[in-house]
Amino acid sequence: MWPFRKKTVLPQCDDRLSHIAFIMDGNGRWAERRGLPREAGHRAGAENFRRVVRLCGDAGIRTVTVYAFSTENWKRPQKEVEELMRLLSRYLDEVLEKIGQEQVTLRFLGDPAPLDPALREKIRRAEQATADQDRVVNVALNYGGRDEIVHAVNALLSQGKRHVTEEDISRNLYTAAQRDPDLVVRTGGDIRTSNFLMWQSAYAEYYFTDVLWPDLDADVLAAAIREFYSRKRRYGGL
Ligand code: IPE
Ligand code: IPE
Ligand code: MG
Repeated sequence: MWPFRKKTVLPQCDDRLSHIAFIMDGNGRWAERRGLPREAGHRAGAENFRRVVRLCGDAGIRTVTVYAFSTENWKRPQKEVEELMRLLSRYLDEVLEKIGQEQVTLRFLGDPAPLDPALREKIRRAEQATADQDRVVNVALNYGGRDEIVHAVNALLSQGKRHVTEEDISRNLYTAAQRDPDLVVRTGGDIRTSNFLMWQSAYAEYYFTDVLWPDLDADVLAAAIREFYSRKRRYGGL
């Protein structure tokens, strides 16, 4: 018989799951298992990022946030850091060449200061060129949850605040007015948050899978969505 794969029907999400966030982990191991250099895993991971954004759109999810590079990832060998930045830069080139094709607004979360000025400029142009779409893709780049909170507090101090509220802090995070993630998915088998969206995920549902990021497909996404809808979110109530 001709080999074929049944097309997964993705569950359709409503307002309860309007923001999904991914800790895209496991690229290096994906490559190592194939006897390839880690960089090949990052290339496969970058391709899968595009597929997953489309799948989330197919499932009716309005906001997708991905953890692309943490404030701690600078500890990696320079060659690997350079390849990750190169992949991001290439992705932005494609976005800028085909504006509107993906029909998503791109936003970057994190401190841009240590990034290469050419990359910062591409980020600025891509954010500007894709503004005003209904769907949002946040790319967390040089992002750290602690760094983000410190950044917010310093912004408030420089505004002359001497007493701050939760609202003040939320509004000064990189995510500013965006809705908190409803579901955070981590691939790669580790059960930790690695400094991702600490403030915003206070009441997020978490889904951990051993699947490595380049292998996250419609079936895994569908399983995560179904698991999300099977849970009862109590927010401390009954
Ligand atoms: C991707 O996976 C995450 C990034 C920092 C880009 P890793 O590169 O951490 O892959 P593993 O965890 O070593 O397999
Ligand atoms: C988390 O993955 C960061 C990103 C996915 C960008 P890491 O591979 O850096 O996390 P740890 O080091 O295993 O906690
Ligand atoms: Mg990792």
